[in-house]
Amino acid sequence: MQPPQFKDLDLSSCILLGPGPSMVPPRVLRALAQPPVGYLDPEIIVVMDELKQLLQYAFQTKNEFTIPISGTGTAGMETAISNFVEPGDRVLTAINGFFGERLADMASRYGAQVERLERPWGEVFTPEEFDAALKDGGYKLVTLVHGETSTGTVQTRVDEIAEVVHLHGALLILDTVASLGGVPIEIDEWDVDICYSGSQKCLSAPPGLAPFTANARAMDVFQQRKTKVTNWYLDISGLSKYWLEPHAYHHTGPINMFYALREALRLVAEEGIENCWARHRSVAEGLWAGLEKLGLPPRVPLDFRMPSLTTPKLPDGLDEAAIRKQLLEDYNIEIAGGFGPLAGQIWRIGLMGFSARRENVTLLLAALGELL
Ligand SMILES: Cc1ncc(COP(=O)(O)O)c(C=O)c1O
Repeated sequence: MQPPQFKDLDLSSCILLGPGPSMVPPRVLRALAQPPVGYLDPEIIVVMDELKQLLQYAFQTKNEFTIPISGTGTAGMETAISNFVEPGDRVLTAINGFFGERLADMASRYGAQVERLERPWGEVFTPEEFDAALKDGGYKLVTLVHGETSTGTVQTRVDEIAEVVHLHGALLILDTVASLGGVPIEIDEWDVDICYSGSQKCLSAPPGLAPFTANARAMDVFQQRKTKVTNWYLDISGLSKYWLEPHAYHHTGPINMFYALREALRLVAEEGIENCWARHRSVAEGLWAGLEKLGLPPRVPLDFRMPSLTTPKLPDGLDEAAIRKQLLEDYNIEIAGGFGPLAGQIWRIGLMGFSARRENVTLLLAALGELL
């Protein structure tokens, strides 16, 4: 058999301003390129311990069970669902975009009785809506997406929603894949029970790890399961044995991704998480002002507009796909289009992590000015 043909690609110069992955800083790329060691090497245990502490800082939590799950954001989602859903459990899924829908699908595959709390794409929920939906009782879990990457909204009043969820005896699962590191998130302060994210957006590591945290209330509920977790790989009792004492083999950790995420989180810690949130906000404000001038105002109202992902409203008749193609070919800039009910109506412009820099905004606005 002949070896296959392959192309030489230059992947080094793309400016990633889409919904993720975001650009990866040189320090993180250098960390990624260090030689792997064994998954129980004494030094990797140190890396893992630091990773847990750095993730606690990013999530603003003291939760002991705070680890990166091997896999992308969806693995974090599946860890949340597979460990906390047992067949027949009632789950209320808040759906205002694509990822809320994925949570509903996933919960039903693990045997949950899923009820939908829906809002049109591009809107957010109020605590009162959860209160009304939970009134008939018996819910075990509520799922909520903090930053909806399909629409550019950020859910407000999460602390009040968590309070309502707890009053009705349920646990809150929060998806922060698009928001962790880029938008204020206070897991302990808000009393969120279970939360997951992704390494590749506002944290600026490559895709491949899903930060995950669960509080003592959630762990108690987990301990009371009557059935085995049907997903072996993501069962948190097995993962605990690797990540906490006694550090026993569970699966081969993606060692180089541990290096990369640790370095990315060290950058967050050096900057200070509040400064990181503030940088995302101020860079996004620059983008919003520039888009207004170009006649492309952000579609989401300021009150719940996500700084890490902006969705400008496009004028009728604009060949938006042709402009995105030209942006990529002539300027090496990636942005994304809308999909689902927002297809053709918006762009999705990410300013996440290392991509959230003023120079990228200036370049994008100049390029759009020329192309439009
Ligand atoms: C809000 C949200 N949740 C979940 C996911 C799924 O993450 P991944 O694609 O890394 O598996 C994404 C990915 O874009 C996301 O934006």
